Amino acid sequence: MAGARDGDIYCRMNRIYSSVLALGVVVGCGNDGSQSPTTQVTAATGGNLSTGGAASTTGAQATTGGASASATTSTATGGNNTGGASSTASTATSSATGGKSSTGGLSSRGGTSSTATPSTGGAPASGGNGASGGTHATGGGNSTTAPTGGASTATGGRTAVGGASSAGGTGGATATGGSRSSGGSSSAAVKVCSVPSTLKDASACNGKLIGTALAQGQLSNSSYTAAAREFNYATPENEMKWDTVESYQNNFNFGPGDTIVNFAKQNGMKVKGHTLVWHSQLPNWVSSLSTASAVRSAMVNHITKVMTHFKGSIYAWDVVNEAWDTPSKKGDGTATLRASVFKNKIGDGFIDEAFQAAKAADSSALLFYNDYSTEGMNDKSNAVYNMVKGMKERGIPIDGVGIQTHIGTPNDTPTAAEVKQNIDRLAALGLQVVISEMDVNGCDGYTADSMAAIYHDIVAACVSQPLCTAITVWGISDSGSWLNSFSEAGCNGKQATPLLWDGSYKKKATYNSVMKALTGS
Ligand code: G3I
Repeated sequence: MAGARDGDIYCRMNRIYSSVLALGVVVGCGNDGSQSPTTQVTAATGGNLSTGGAASTTGAQATTGGASASATTSTATGGNNTGGASSTASTATSSATGGKSSTGGLSSRGGTSSTATPSTGGAPASGGNGASGGTHATGGGNSTTAPTGGASTATGGRTAVGGASSAGGTGGATATGGSRSSGGSSSAAVKVCSVPSTLKDASACNGKLIGTALAQGQLSNSSYTAAAREFNYATPENEMKWDTVESYQNNFNFGPGDTIVNFAKQNGMKVKGHTLVWHSQLPNWVSSLSTASAVRSAMVNHITKVMTHFKGSIYAWDVVNEAWDTPSKKGDGTATLRASVFKNKIGDGFIDEAFQAAKAADSSALLFYNDYSTEGMNDKSNAVYNMVKGMKERGIPIDGVGIQTHIGTPNDTPTAAEVKQNIDRLAALGLQVVISEMDVNGCDGYTADSMAAIYHDIVAACVSQPLCTAITVWGISDSGSWLNSFSEAGCNGKQATPLLWDGSYKKKATYNSVMKALTGS
């Protein structure tokens, strides 16, 4: 992951991603700064029948995978708006322009400038570059295949996931549109934009959220808040954890969390609640509960009261955090569900139960499972993959997976290609994926350039997958990083320098590389 940072390398990386995906998608390299995305889809391949395609509803309605778009006729009904205001699919023979004026809520990734090359003989045109809907719906076939947008899990235009990973392989297999595509690789054309002046503007290029952990104690620091305003997504670093919110049973303290929410609202940021069920930062009274029913009732009460309080202010929740364990903190070795009062008393089903309670408490929030050393391909990420696959099959209301992405000692050091592979397989389940807590531990001997390269390449892996919807870094200034006081980080008194701003709030090479990755170069 180390290496010089120049345009050629980024182009090569894009080509590598593209060829890995075998989508024939060419990303415009060397774009000199036009504001418009320059995505060019040269050869969409897909099956000859894309189901779950074109039908769309306006407004925050469920997108249904309606009228199929059949590529055999070379008529691709493109587009598939999902839930947006006035998306309309354009129909064309031989030259489908998908997702044309898709407009929607936030993160709309309307494909106004994305067109596909003529759809002929079963090679369907890609349906626009992300018709979208309310918040975060991605649809419209970012990848190959005819329009898609099926959105088997679409609800209210909000979590529609249509077409994002659909691909039918080549040559006329059946491509199943919508979020459960199979038969091919998944990815999207990455848009290239000029580099703007803030991270949140850069994140708009490819329709991602860019987030940071916020610490209440830092909000009086004007350098900190100025940098924080570069983000459009926030996770309270500690302020919504059980030991803060409910340190005494059924006695809730929402003050610190409210402070974060208010700052976020004032600055147009969405908030990810963190975290409801976690073995750590858990008050003793919970750990001391002795029966399954006592733990269950405490867990459900906590989830219900906390989510109800913050309802309307929280975009997504980390419902269960770090439930898996392996002998190595790097995620290798037999993965087991970690011993905790939840697992020990309720049993393995505590995870399903937590998600069900969360859905009942706030049906509008996205619900995530979140863990560390699960970024690449290893025993732990396999366990998480199998778990969430099972949850989807059982109808447990899970919307996505957070891969924390604390890179370096004591955690994993995956390659970007592995991260890409893992993100894509999770997305193929119809789940969103978010990089939820990224930092790179400089005490591992990385140079400034190599840290920048890691940031770039891993963020780019997310950018290339439509269902990877957010990238969050775990703090703002190097001086405030949790790693500096974490004994297992191996810093021995040095600073870990893991973030995008140095201790004086000067932007680092890592900042620039995140900007580049977000803007497709
Ligand atoms: O607030 C007290 C303060 O009153 C006291 O004087 C001081 C002395 O130690 O401790 C302060 O609490 C600390 C808290 O951070 C706030 O600074 C805790 O000791 C410390 O353990 C806690 O660390 C947090 C850690 O989670 C706890 O496990 C880090 O800030 C936070 O960045 C870290 O975040 C976690 C994610 O939630 C989950 N994924 C891993 C990630 C990194 O560990």
